Amino acid sequence: MTKQVYINIREIVQVRPIPIAPLTGSQFQHVPSIPCAFLVIENNVVVDFGKMESFDHGLYDPQDLIDVSGRFIFPAFCDSHTHTVFAMPRDTEFTDKIKGLSYQEIAAKGGGILNSAKHVQALSEDELFEISLPRVKALIAGGTGALEIKSGYGLTLLDELKILRVIKRIKAIVDIPIKSTFLAAHALPDEYKSNKQGFIQAVVDQWIPHVIAEDLADYIDVFCETGYFDATDLELIAHAIQGSKMKLKVHVNQFTAIGGIQAAVKNEAVSVDHLEILDPKDLEALKSGKTIATLLPACSFFLNIPFSPARDLIKEGIPIALASDFNPGSSPTSNLFFVWSLACIKMKMTPEEAFNALTINAAFAMGLQSTHGTIYKGYNGKLIITNISPSLAFFPYSFASNHVFTMIN
Ligand code: NIG
Ligand code: FE
Repeated sequence: MTKQVYINIREIVQVRPIPIAPLTGSQFQHVPSIPCAFLVIENNVVVDFGKMESFDHGLYDPQDLIDVSGRFIFPAFCDSHTHTVFAMPRDTEFTDKIKGLSYQEIAAKGGGILNSAKHVQALSEDELFEISLPRVKALIAGGTGALEIKSGYGLTLLDELKILRVIKRIKAIVDIPIKSTFLAAHALPDEYKSNKQGFIQAVVDQWIPHVIAEDLADYIDVFCETGYFDATDLELIAHAIQGSKMKLKVHVNQFTAIGGIQAAVKNEAVSVDHLEILDPKDLEALKSGKTIATLLPACSFFLNIPFSPARDLIKEGIPIALASDFNPGSSPTSNLFFVWSLACIKMKMTPEEAFNALTINAAFAMGLQSTHGTIYKGYNGKLIITNISPSLAFFPYSFASNHVFTMIN
């Protein structure tokens, strides 16, 4: 049996019974914690915790004690929106971007999603796996304890299957839960340039049945955006997964509001992601359903586009999750501490709200709410031991710093 007994913890954060619904309202504003605490782990399972004043030294072998004075312990973050399996960075587009070319102009020049797809198509499954695995290991070391990964850079059935199989292989190796999303409609492949309907038909008639038959995905996703796919495409794709275990998560309202949120809520999407641009109809639709709004401020930061109006969503009682959107084109970071800072600095979320959005609500956005996002007796997910810090607010305040002392479990 392995045993670790952490003592003199400055604060154990997010200690609460497993919530039954995503946090909103006053619950969302508050993060329960135990100051000056101990925490006992046996065989990778949290078996006890409490205040130091009730700690009984006589119960433990002194060799098992680890003094972590001044440090916080968090449940690891949940990253519910990433594109971690990709072939190459797109640093070659970076200078164009600095010179003022927009996301759409870069795509029109042969950059963008089609560029990433060309590189994925050129790699074997083994090569793509070897390139992607170290990224996952690095983001775990950085504080992520549950991860969603999307396909979407394949753009042919075989290349999409290649990405999904790579995700499956990564899932089998790493010691965090990984959810897999089939981003079926991400960009229109060249061979369908003037035949979007034909492409959607192929996705519905061939691609989705194949992915279901091979059980390769937990979610389906669509990039619902002007110049990409629209609400009708989203509806067709949502109907095509009916009867399967797959659920819907959608990229919507990154640049324009074209009815994607309404279609997603109507089809009971687990989450709608991005939401940089929101109109009142979108807020109404979200209020009427149970869909989580997943905000991706690192994408806004990198592309210099508006930040999602988080306060408007909070005011309306809509549940918010935060994620990295780690991808080579619009958010080349998987650092959720940086996302935390951006949520506070740019979207006016409080440190507590943003922490809830990165843990409990993000766990809900990937179906892991019964095991991840909180610390409870029986928790066997990863925990973050932080560097020495005076407060919870210090972490997002001290932006772009390394706050992870070590990951445990
Ligand atoms: O979430 N918006 C669509 N998909 C990705 C970016 C894709 C890319 O540019 O490679 C996103 O931002
Ligand atoms: Fe994305």
